[in-house]
Amino acid sequence: MDEPTAERWNDVDTYLTETLVEEDGALRAAVASLATEGLPLIEVAPLNGKLLHLLARMVRAERVLEIGTLGAYSTIWLARALAASGRVVTIEAEPHNARVARHNLERAGVADRVDICIGRAADVLPTLVDEDPFDLVFIDADKESNTVYLDWAAKLGHPGTVVVLDNIGRDGEIVRDDSTDPKVNGTRAGLRMLGEDPRFDATALQTVGIKGWDGIALALVV
Ligand code: DHB
Ligand code: MG
Repeated sequence: MDEPTAERWNDVDTYLTETLVEEDGALRAAVASLATEGLPLIEVAPLNGKLLHLLARMVRAERVLEIGTLGAYSTIWLARALAASGRVVTIEAEPHNARVARHNLERAGVADRVDICIGRAADVLPTLVDEDPFDLVFIDADKESNTVYLDWAAKLGHPGTVVVLDNIGRDGEIVRDDSTDPKVNGTRAGLRMLGEDPRFDATALQTVGIKGWDGIALALVV
């Protein structure tokens, strides 16, 4: 057996991606735009984009909420899971990111299904209470606010809403008692909430591969 090194994990990640995930030019262009437009290269991995897409189809989502648009790579995956009448509401704090995202969504042919809300999610989320509830919520923004976002996911969802929380592993930092990283603290607080809050039933998966050692939590609003 090979040693489980980062290089081997990347090889397997690449193999799985090549075998199972078909990325078209628009998805590849969305990833490429992050570097050229000066955005951080923290989009979800292709396998995770496909997972979001499949989850949305599995629950026959008509309304999807995304917190943290970045360049809309994950947004494209989610939007392509919806019928033409479906809607993704995606929240982005940085106007420049939102402009890049808009362009990427147009190139992918799904801009008509996506509303980009520009602003701090904590300010935008309360404005969504009068809309129809969301069937799937993807939380991938500032980790310090994870509990705030999970609270809104429960409020804006319904029993059966699927919640995906990104970046729950953080290179293993999550179990380092001496970590002072506020992102780690926010991630732990979010996981604690998913474990204790009776509105959720949750699990989590570690991931290794092209995005390093990380993971996602997957929750059901009960
Ligand atoms: C970070 C945020 C992300 O959403 C991600 O996928 C990876 C890293 C970060 O803020 O460090
Ligand atoms: Mg992320």
